Amino acid sequence: MAKILVTEPIPEIVIECLSKAGEVVVGEKGFYQSPENLINNIGEFDALLCMLSNPVNESVLKAAHDLKIVANFAVGYNNINVKAAHKLGIKVANTPDVLTEACGDFAMGLLLALSRRFIDAEAYLRAGKFKGWEPLGFLGMELRNKTLGIIGMGRIGQAFAQRARAFGMKIAYHNRSRLSNQLENELQATYYADHLELGEACDVISLNCPLTEETHHLVDQNFLGKLRPHVLLINISRGAVIDEEALAQSLHNKKIAGAALDVFEHEPEIHPTLLTAPNTLLLPHIASATFETREAIGMLAAEAIVAVLEGKADKEIPNLIHP
Ligand code: GLV
Repeated sequence: MAKILVTEPIPEIVIECLSKAGEVVVGEKGFYQSPENLINNIGEFDALLCMLSNPVNESVLKAAHDLKIVANFAVGYNNINVKAAHKLGIKVANTPDVLTEACGDFAMGLLLALSRRFIDAEAYLRAGKFKGWEPLGFLGMELRNKTLGIIGMGRIGQAFAQRARAFGMKIAYHNRSRLSNQLENELQATYYADHLELGEACDVISLNCPLTEETHHLVDQNFLGKLRPHVLLINISRGAVIDEEALAQSLHNKKIAGAALDVFEHEPEIHPTLLTAPNTLLLPHIASATFETREAIGMLAAEAIVAVLEGKADKEIPNLIHP
């Protein structure tokens, strides 16, 4: 019987689905965040359902003698060395599409929280400083007619753009490749080949790109230096797209007006200077965290595992990542 390792407790319905294909072992919360624990235990498993917090590096993959598939409980898969997996004949799957709407909603929520200063205003109230309605208290930025600049115009970037359009915002974007004319027209989106020029033109910047060699520290001192002081920055992609030290300095020196960060370069550690930055919302990587979406993510990852263990052809498994 095949053995399947699920590295963290996940929705029960997903475990039931996997149980049809083999014996399922569920890891304790946090245990497999260490690559050593993966290396020491992966040897006996035929399939791995891992989290984005599990480093599935080359050493882990080499220690996996029987592994046929790694399915990530996430759309982003920078935690997996996909090249090494493919070299070793191990398939890799992720979970596109199912989290798009949850992430679009979440990004819109972050933008509203930032632009209307929820963070500082709530802290003010809790500190007992609210003594009566103030005509000049916590004035924020209205969204209508402002420009949202999206870096990474994939499914999630587009979902955010649709929502922002409903709030009367203009859309600009930077992406590896340009959208079709039809999509650009639908979203009324203006393409910027140069991300620095996009930075200069926008009131809000949202990072929705995967973490790759090209996007690592894309938001650095140079990029931040192009932004105007009222600009708000949102990141729900991966922490390492931002040089966190440079961002913390920009926020403290009021070179930009605020940031909402759901992801961090060294999760779960948070850069200490970000913790004290003004108008900065810091969240524990929860963009896809709805009951519906986390169940759908798990089911999509599990279906790929079941299909591989049943010997289905690659072309029948839509969420496999191809070499
Ligand atoms: C979450 O960050 C994901 O990539 O699914």
